[in-house]
Order: sequence, then C-alpha cells, then structure tokens
Amino acid sequence: MISQDSIQQILSRIDIVEIVGSFIKLKKRGANYLGLCPFHNEKTPSFTVSPAKEIYKCFGCGRSGNSIGFLMEAEKYSYVEALRWLAAKYNVEIEESETSPEYKLQQQAADSLYIINSFAQKYFTEALLNSEEGQDIALSYLKERGFREEIITKFQLGYNSEAKDGFTKAALAAQYSLAYLQKTGLVNVRDDNAYDNYRGRIIFPIHNQSGKVLGFGARIIKKNDKAPKYINSPENEIYVKSKLLYGSYFARQAIDKADECLLVEGYTDVVSLHQAGIENVVASGGTSLTPDQLRLIKKYTNNLTIIYDGDSAGIKAALRGLDLALEESLNVKLVLIPDGEDPDSYVNKVGSAEFISFVNQNKKDFILFQLGIALKDAGNDNTKKSIVVNQIAETISKINKTEDFTKQQDYIKQCSEILKIEESGLHALVNKFIREKVNKDETRVSRDQKFAEENIGTKQHPVIDQDVTALFNKDESHEQAMIRSLLEFGLKDWTDEQKVADYMFKEIEENQLEELIDNKELIQILHTYKAWYEAGIEPTAKNFLYHENLSMSSLVVSIMDFNYEISTNWKTHFEGHIATREELFAEEVFSTLNYLKLRKIKRLIDENQRDLEKSTVAEDQMLLVQTHQHLKQMEIELTRQLGTVIFR
Ligand code: CTP
Ligand code: MN
Repeated sequence: MISQDSIQQILSRIDIVEIVGSFIKLKKRGANYLGLCPFHNEKTPSFTVSPAKEIYKCFGCGRSGNSIGFLMEAEKYSYVEALRWLAAKYNVEIEESETSPEYKLQQQAADSLYIINSFAQKYFTEALLNSEEGQDIALSYLKERGFREEIITKFQLGYNSEAKDGFTKAALAAQYSLAYLQKTGLVNVRDDNAYDNYRGRIIFPIHNQSGKVLGFGARIIKKNDKAPKYINSPENEIYVKSKLLYGSYFARQAIDKADECLLVEGYTDVVSLHQAGIENVVASGGTSLTPDQLRLIKKYTNNLTIIYDGDSAGIKAALRGLDLALEESLNVKLVLIPDGEDPDSYVNKVGSAEFISFVNQNKKDFILFQLGIALKDAGNDNTKKSIVVNQIAETISKINKTEDFTKQQDYIKQCSEILKIEESGLHALVNKFIREKVNKDETRVSRDQKFAEENIGTKQHPVIDQDVTALFNKDESHEQAMIRSLLEFGLKDWTDEQKVADYMFKEIEENQLEELIDNKELIQILHTYKAWYEAGIEPTAKNFLYHENLSMSSLVVSIMDFNYEISTNWKTHFEGHIATREELFAEEVFSTLNYLKLRKIKRLIDENQRDLEKSTVAEDQMLLVQTHQHLKQMEIELTRQLGTVIFR
C-alpha cells in the first residue's frame, strides 16, 4: 500500500499537460490544449486537455479522464502502477504503509533482479556489437539471416562468448550478489565454481510492458545435438512465463492502432516481422496461451490472429486454452504458413506486402479449424465423432455474452454443416452445456442470495421493464446537472453565512435525497462530498478526480463541464458580454435543484392518482383529493420559479 501522504504529494505535483504531453504533441488552444487522440486514429485533433480542470477528453472517441486515468489507458497501468510512474517522474519518494516484511523482501528481490538483468543486457549487447568474437560469430550470423543493425539495436539483442565465465567475472567484479546472479539464471554454480549459463549464444532480452528486462532467451549458434536450441530464464520473482508475451513492449502501440494482435511462436518471428514493418506482433514461445496472456492481449484488442507454421507441433498447444478466449469475447483467427516456412523465413522470402496479404486472405476461424483437425483425427470412428460433436458444442457454449449471440448462432449453423448433423440437434446440445454451467454457478451463489433475501425481508424480485428504465435514463442528465453545480460552485458564498453547499444540502435533506436522485452512484458522490465537507476536507472536483474509487472518479470526469474558450475573434465580433456559467451560478444551483423537486412532485402526483383510482373508501378519497390539490399547488409554484429563472 502506498501511504496516503505519498499519494497526496504525488497528486499535488501532477501537471496533466506535462504528463499527456510526454506521450502526444499538444498545442495550446485558448485555455485548453489540443492534440491527436492516442486512443483512436484521427487526422484532425479532437483530443482536449484542460489544465485547470486536470482532465482530458477526446471529442472524437469520447474517452475522458484524469492524469492517472490517462496513464492507465495509454500504458495499461493499474492504479498503483500509474501512481508509481508519477512518483518516479516527479521524484516523490514513495512511502509504503502496511506492507508485510515478506512483500518488502520480494520487492527488494525483484529490484535486484531487474538491476542485474539490465547490467547483463548491456554486457551482452556490447559483446555482440563491439567484441571481435561477437562480430565474427554472432553479428555475422544475424546479418546472414537478414537482421539489420537497426532492429538488432531496437530489440537489444546480444551475444555471450563461448568462454567459461566472462560474464560471471564481470558481474561479480561489479559487486552483484552471487545468489541473485543464480536466481536470474545467468550464472550457474558447480563444485564451488561459478560460470556463465549461456555460452556461445545469441541473447534475446525479454521486456515487460514498460521496457524493463524480465529475463532472456538464449539461442545456440552452432548446431549441437547435446545442447538445447534455446535456454530461457528460470521462473523467479520477475520472470513468470505464463504472464508475459515476447515483444509486447514493442508491439503495444501498434496493436492498439491496428486493433489486432498477431501471435507467432518464436523470438526470431517477432523480430523479423518488426523489421518488415509489421509491429503488432508478439510471441508465446510455442506453448498454449494462459489466461494471464489472454488478458494481456485483451487490454489492447479483441482480435487475435495466430500465425504458425503449418507443420508446427505448436499449433495444437496454441489452440488449447482458447475456450477461455471465447468466454472473454476475443475473436480468434488462425493462419498457417505453408511449405515448412515459419513467419520469420516467410516474410524474408516474400516481403512484407505479400506477407500481409497472405495473412489477410488465409485467416481461418479457429473454431472451424479446430473442428477440422478433430474430425480428421476421428476418421470413420463413430464414437470418436460423437466425442468431437460434444467437444465442439461445449466450446460453442462458452460464447455466452449477449452481444455475441449472433456469433454463437453462426457457429452452430456452420459446425452442423461441417459435421453433417441436424442444426437443431447441435443447438440443443449447446444449450445443455449452457444450462449446466448456469446450474453450477447457481449452486455456488444460492447460499449468499438466500441470505440476502432473508435480510431484505422480501423474496419478490421487482420486474424491471427495459423500456421503462430507458425512459428514466433521460432524466439522469438533470441529476448530473445538480451534482455538477454542487461540485463546481459548492464552496462559493450563497449568503453571508451560508455557502452554496450548505444551502443545497439543506434543500436536499428537506426533500429526501433518495426521492430526488435515482442514480446510486450520484448519491454516493453526494455522501462523499458531505462527509468531506463536514470533516473540513475541501470537496473539490480535483479531490474526486483522484479518488481511488475509479468508477466514482470517472463519473465525476464525465459530468464535468469542459470549458470551451470562446475564441477572441468571436468575442470581438460579438462585442457584447456573454455571461458564463460561472457568473450565473446561483441560477444554475437554483434551477437544477428545482427541476429535481419538480420531478419528485410529478411522481407523487402520479402515485396519488393511482391510489385515487384504486380507492373505494370515501374518506380516503377525500384525503387523496386534498393531497392532489396540495401537490398541484406546489407544482405550479415550482414551475413558475423555474420559468422565471430560465426565461428571465
Ligand atoms: N523454444 C524454447 N526452447 C526450445 C525451443 C524453442 O523455448 N528448446 C521456444 C522459443 O521461444 C522459440 C520458439 O519456441 O523462439 C519457437 O521455436 P523454433 O521455431 O524452434 O525457433 P525459432 O524462434 O524459429 O528460431 P530460429 O528461427 O532461429 O530457428
Ligand atoms: Mn525460425
């Protein structure tokens, strides 16, 4: 946990223009800054940054947020990672509160491993580019394979000599601990002798999302039956194979832009495709994709295209675990490279344009492909065939999000054609799997639910009509407008003794908050505001923007007014004075509150009306009629007030 104190220190130094400006070029336009949106492709800038409000908003794609939100979106950081990035940028020393000693030790270990890896990467790169052995054996080999120096430098490739312990000696001389050196897998110890683990090998550093070296893959140069072709880093505090994808650091922006991630098997495939200008590509190392890796991809795109060589043993491995991709609504396509080539050799042979068009023309749907393989394996064996049908039905049942419904229907149709079975039969089978899954989930939650129902004291679930909710949503802008006037003007003077916030809360209390505002999240903002206000903390919009409850902070961002500067040209042209919201704040406070009060009264009138229609007792009817008149009077009064305020 980062201490509250450190967070405050970081927040006090944040300059959103500087932060966003380190990713995209911004130009000053009035009070705001303007640039090309990093989140969607555009030619004319619609990405606006307001330094005063400390928020950004893209009028093209609609994305908006604060500095932390920007880092989370652009760099795919978590909230804490974004804070750490800011702390490093602004030289704020982070104090950690409530960290366990184990956590601290682990952090220290991770830091040490990163430092050693960075040292090693530089050592290996130096050896590749500037040592005689490196140039003669390794650099010439890479160049022969078509890798140019530019790409070698970009991917920080390296070489380690065939000598026994060159690296080990250098690392120990630089005071790195032997224990950590062993942990990184760079150094081995046998019979009290420490020696280099990767000898006579090309070294591929593996980077994390922010470019730090997690570990290495080391490829042998001279063919040797006894030694493995690649040696990879052992698992340790920072190298966790199931969570990384080779090349993701270099590919992330291209994946974002292309809205597609290409997945290949090997290190050399990634580097070669990059060199050919195809940069949205990562490698899995030939193993099946893990949930963490799929999640990593999903941060950037929903479209995954797997490109493997046709006779790779890795295909089946890659396809395993992809049911999970379906559950996550990833669209998975598969391309097989022909004739014993892999993506590296194929792109070198045909060039990038032809490679891209081959990929685009040969994308196969992964479910249909999987079905093809399974059917081929089953041959004429009917038992095996029915297993295939079951498996494919289960796979299709994993597509269970409502928005993917059409996709699911398509699969049922296509698969039943390939399998030559009745479409309705496959349909029923898929539904069976869906039901089974629902049942399983239900037994899990039923106990909690029962408990909740007993505590609410009702077992009836209100039936909510979709159309009705949609109608109500229109009203939400008025609820938001009220919160916005509180956030923006709450601390202004209302009377000599009262601030706007005092007045608004008095009004809200008199009218009962829950009857004025439907949206639970807006109510939460009000509660937070009040708690801060009463505790003497300034409930400014800025404090909300950096609230760790992210849904609350993004809601605040979305309801904030983005101050459009009126251009000076227009000002002189118009010549008259244009009143700003700022100047008219009292009227805004008044009218936003009154609108909600009016809505409440209209609802009460409707309710009263319904009671009246149902009532058969004369006395009750009298009372209801009186209430009606009373409410009507209030309605007229409020409408009059609203009218004068709005139309004055
Ligand atoms: N791999 C591995 N260990 C091995 C062999 C392979 O970790 N002993 C992983 C590596 O990530 C490798 C990938 O599987 O990049 C694909 O293997 P392969 O196709 O044999 O290697 P390439 O990457 O194509 O290397 P090259 O082109 O140099 O043969
Ligand atoms: Mn290869």
